[in-house]
Amino acid sequence: MVRKHTAYRMKRALSLVSLLVLGLAWTLQGIHISSETLTLTQDGFDLGRFMGQWYEVAVVSTCPHYMQNKRRNPVIVALELQHVASEHNFTMTATTYRNGSCKQTFTVYSLTDHPGRFFHHVDRLGADVYSYVVHTNYDQYAMMLLLSTEKPTGNKTIIVRLYSRTMDVRPVVLDNFKALVKEHRMSDDNIIMNQNKGECVPHQQVTGPNTQISVPK
Ligand SMILES: *[C@@H]1O[C@H](CO)[C@@H](O)[C@H](O)[C@H]1NC(C)=O
Ligand SMILES: *[C@@H]1O[C@H](CO)[C@@H](O)[C@H](O)[C@H]1NC(C)=O
Ligand SMILES: *[C@@H]1O[C@H](CO)[C@@H](O)[C@H](O)[C@H]1NC(C)=O
Repeated sequence: MVRKHTAYRMKRALSLVSLLVLGLAWTLQGIHISSETLTLTQDGFDLGRFMGQWYEVAVVSTCPHYMQNKRRNPVIVALELQHVASEHNFTMTATTYRNGSCKQTFTVYSLTDHPGRFFHHVDRLGADVYSYVVHTNYDQYAMMLLLSTEKPTGNKTIIVRLYSRTMDVRPVVLDNFKALVKEHRMSDDNIIMNQNKGECVPHQQVTGPNTQISVPK
């Protein structure tokens, strides 16, 4: 009797949990900036420690175009993040091999009122993008969630990225990344592991600020 009751209560508790998860997922789809999305970021986020050199080692997206492009060129992207104290933004220079040559893009991210959440706009796609540092230990890995809304179509895309301070990644970190991907209802089978083609040195200089993202849609 008592056991049955407990089982019932557990079931209720579980369905309450799935309701909450659904609520959260809906919020993500709607890309509302609510108190729920704010809990997505690393506790006590420290922007200064997050700056510097990273490598994008793994990525998955709900956008088929993005995945198609990425699969064609699954190469590690070197990232250099720089923040000038007193400015409400930081820059990211992304360097990678594309089509046989070394390409560089430059993006300005605005800080938001919530630590670990950034904003940038991609002109080419008319997309507003919020980035969240979901988990990081600063000196090894960072798990990034990007929520993009294309203004003309209203299309919404989720991108989950794994940054590493080195070009490789420990299995335990990769397992945690897969769990995060599944939390966002994507299959971990779709995760693209970027390959190490060595450091590349761009031929041309960065031509000033634009808001391109490193991979075309
Ligand atoms: C960065 O933020 C500062 C103010 O904090 C602003 O003056 C500057 O124009 C911004 N830079 C860019 C590239 O948006
Ligand atoms: C890559 O190179 C091929 C052949 O040189 C060319 O046809 C294609 O348009 C290039 N793609 C991009 C994205 O530059
Ligand atoms: C927007 O999403 C719809 C449905 O997934 C798709 O058919 C359409 O091609 C997308 N538009 C763009 C510009 O990606």
